[in-house]
Amino acid sequence: MRRTLLAIMLGLVAGLGTVLGGCALTRLPNVPLTLTGSPATPPILGPLDGTAAVASRADWESRRVPRLKTLFQSQIYGAMPAPARVDILSRVVLQAPAKGPIGTIERITLAVSLDRPGPWPGGRPVVDMILITPKGKGPFPIIAGGTFCGNDALFPKTPEPQTLKVRTTNMPLPPECGGGLPAFMVEAIFGKNANSPPWEAIARHGYALASWHPGDVVPDVPGIAEPYLAALTPDGTPPDQRTGAIAAWAWTLSRMLDVLAADPRIDPEHMLLWGHSRHGKAALLAAAFDPRPVAVWALQSGTGGASLDRDEVGEPIGAITASFPHWFAPVYATTAARPDARLLDQHQLIGLLAPRSVLVGTGRRDQWGDPHGSFRALMGADPVYRLYGLPGFAQTSLTKPAEVGPLAFYMRPGLHGIHSQDWAQALAFFDRTVPKLPPTAPNISLKP
Ligand code: GCU
Repeated sequence: MRRTLLAIMLGLVAGLGTVLGGCALTRLPNVPLTLTGSPATPPILGPLDGTAAVASRADWESRRVPRLKTLFQSQIYGAMPAPARVDILSRVVLQAPAKGPIGTIERITLAVSLDRPGPWPGGRPVVDMILITPKGKGPFPIIAGGTFCGNDALFPKTPEPQTLKVRTTNMPLPPECGGGLPAFMVEAIFGKNANSPPWEAIARHGYALASWHPGDVVPDVPGIAEPYLAALTPDGTPPDQRTGAIAAWAWTLSRMLDVLAADPRIDPEHMLLWGHSRHGKAALLAAAFDPRPVAVWALQSGTGGASLDRDEVGEPIGAITASFPHWFAPVYATTAARPDARLLDQHQLIGLLAPRSVLVGTGRRDQWGDPHGSFRALMGADPVYRLYGLPGFAQTSLTKPAEVGPLAFYMRPGLHGIHSQDWAQALAFFDRTVPKLPPTAPNISLKP
């Protein structure tokens, strides 16, 4: 009895804390609607680390791209784990076709084989991927990405899947998940789609959706993550460049694409990635190292994602590496106080995705995510896209995304979170930029 009372008290305190935190958030200042800050440096086609400026598209691809990939690993994210074989352990249909746009909801449990056993139950990472396909034969374009609180939180409203096993693993969730806060409060503060993409509307729009919890591979908890990161770090990697969790989650994205590309219901030419915040960082990094994703939507990815580091606006490197030391290579923290030691900035990460499409979403009250720094990162990547004869980033408005070209940006009102208008922006962008998609019914709104 005493223990239950204590648990209730703790839940209430946590809840109250988050409510008060949430109220405080709503008072965060709006960032200006006119762009501030200086251009991204170094110029993306300019000299880099003692090597000559880029002379052509071929020079970019053969010389600069490999150099940038090496530097992003050795300076920021740590060594990217080696590609690995994926075994499908089980496929379970959680929901068969019923009324509405959904075809099937399936749980695909897969294991990734490593060259040495690690701290996972069974010695290797096991991931439960939820695959939601629209009605019809397909093959369907697919939107893939990890969610913050995992599969349990994916089906908040619909009772059926709740009774079915949406996950088989038992890896710890981030402390913020399950803070005893009722779902309606999470939605009020962090948005209607904070934990669950609008999967019915996505299917109605003609896309399949794949979702999993990146914590299945590396738990998103400082300290606890280390043995998993050590197990994923390639042999011979200097200790200060050990694989970070963002790199591990990016690698996981690619392993998921290995499975999806082999699925006859999925169109391997139209695989798209999305991610919010920390998972937006991972989605951008995944596409930088994997040529298959044809488009990426990074929502509020901030530091280590789409926003520039050098402008010292938003989350400082010192803060992110102190709060989340497992996310990056230890060396990244050492550059916090030495901007001169940094050869890179995030416009170069976006440049590695060229000529593929990138949508960056931000919120006016999410200064921490540095919306202006993200806009200037797209401006900084623009010259590479022009090397491909593409229109680059011609957008001038901070709020209205470009209607032409592979790069676009929007800043909606409000806080750090995922709202239906974010998904409406993303689906409109995917439809516009991923050319050979089958025609979809025009202007389907996401509003129920
Ligand atoms: C924290 C962190 C950010 C991150 C965010 C998130 O706020 O400081 O870098 O993007 O969490 O993932 O929600």
